[in-house]
Amino acid sequence: MERNEAIKTESAMAGEPGGDEASRGKAPERANTRANTRKVFVKTYGCQMNVYDSERMEDALTQGGYVRTDRMEDADLVLLNTCHIREKAAEKVYSEIGRIRRLKEARAKNGGKLTLGVTGCVAQAEGEEIFRRAPVVDLVAGPQTYHDIAAMVARAEGGEKVIETEFEIEEKFAKLPAPTRQQTIARGVAGFLTVQEGCDKFCTFCVVPYTRGAEVSRPASQIIEEALRMVDAGVKEITLLGQNVNAWHGSDDGNGNGGAMRLGDLLHRLAEISGVERLRYTTSHPIDMDDGLIDAHRDIGKLMPYLHLPVQAGSDRILKAMNRHHTAAEYLDIIERVRKARPDIAISGDFITGFPGESDEDFEATMEIVRAVNYASAFSFKYSPRPGTPGAELEDQVPEEVKGERLARLQELLGEQQQAFNRDCIGRTIDILLEKKGRHEGQLIGRSPWLQSVVVEGDLSEIGHMLTVKVASSGPVSLLAERV
Ligand code: SAH
Ligand code: SF4
Ligand code: F3S
Repeated sequence: MERNEAIKTESAMAGEPGGDEASRGKAPERANTRANTRKVFVKTYGCQMNVYDSERMEDALTQGGYVRTDRMEDADLVLLNTCHIREKAAEKVYSEIGRIRRLKEARAKNGGKLTLGVTGCVAQAEGEEIFRRAPVVDLVAGPQTYHDIAAMVARAEGGEKVIETEFEIEEKFAKLPAPTRQQTIARGVAGFLTVQEGCDKFCTFCVVPYTRGAEVSRPASQIIEEALRMVDAGVKEITLLGQNVNAWHGSDDGNGNGGAMRLGDLLHRLAEISGVERLRYTTSHPIDMDDGLIDAHRDIGKLMPYLHLPVQAGSDRILKAMNRHHTAAEYLDIIERVRKARPDIAISGDFITGFPGESDEDFEATMEIVRAVNYASAFSFKYSPRPGTPGAELEDQVPEEVKGERLARLQELLGEQQQAFNRDCIGRTIDILLEKKGRHEGQLIGRSPWLQSVVVEGDLSEIGHMLTVKVASSGPVSLLAERV
């Protein structure tokens, strides 16, 4: 269960919608019957892109003879798939490495062996430095190298210190093995599908363009093929992923980049697949919210009424300093157009308090834009200066306590809005996708169109089905419903 827990807390930290979502639909661990089989434990930090990557690495390794384990203590190979977005996220990795070092030492005393790999955005950002700071690490692999994960692990197990941080993103997707039907089934009825990776936006606070490289879109044909495979394995809901998912562009002739298709067109194509019942996408940037995508929210019934559209701040001066390429008024205009296309859409966002130079007045503009939009959910963070980003070099850094006070005020407002949104659902009849068993006997957890967890009575055999329910009551993060 540790892995699920890690994903839950860390995803929320990374500011992606539904940290909880990352763990949905997990099936119980498959029994390991072969005593000599090597076991791999992957711990995932950060965003859903990392969840997707961890699944692909697990697929590659298990197809190469490994067996997954949910217990680090049982593992022969531990991979930490890391996040570099804020200082706290990166530092957490080193405390985990400390724990693993003790495990490794204990193992060595008994003549056993444990191989430790650091993958993901910390691996990309820090490279060799990781070996210097934590010599116990055997393998350092950046996000674009996972198609070679099995070979890299074999070298590390042979005693070599392995480091790979090249950018070869097109290779990654073309060469990573497809999951087997069994592997997809084990992950449940709601699945992630990465369609785009990397970022060219260079917001001045953000490490992603450096850790994930330039924006690259996967070809439509490759994406559709993967969606068909998912559906064949029983997946009902697909969430398209990308650091800038709505910057996706391509064509269906096999050439990913440069084509005229946009995300709205891709959603139309995916909606045509029978068996796909629900579509979502995340995370979007306001400047790539084109008319085709907005219209898709009006025209595609399978596209869920939920949009995660981070604004980060409400002051035009700060938005400019952040290099966000739009004003507060332009953001509000997009929200208005989206709501016109799909009146019941839930809007979610990300916010940063205390970006360098943020005055009280600038912060009030953030509170103002939050009041104007009325969010259904949101993630908010204190600004964390990241080495190598332009924001970290700015002189007028805001004191920690001011960032903290602003964050507390902002989160109070966002929390009120989320509770009000949930309360508004009471009495409504809605369709939910049943994803997993609930905490108590006889309970199931489903997902509402607006991404809320919905608790309902039911039988395990119903998992994977849609159910019409009436919402009876609401809490801060979930709804309670009755069958109709
Ligand atoms: N691609 C997405 C977000 C990626 S990172 C976008 O463009 O919006 C997820 C969130 O982490 C960001 O939206 C931002 O709110 C937050 N974040 C990124 N860098 C940060 C930093 N240095 N300090 C605090 N929060 C940060
Ligand atoms: Fe980071 Fe900005 Fe790119 Fe989002 S758009 S990943 S915040 S640089
Ligand atoms: Fe973190 Fe990398 Fe995702 S920095 S938020 S894991 S893209």
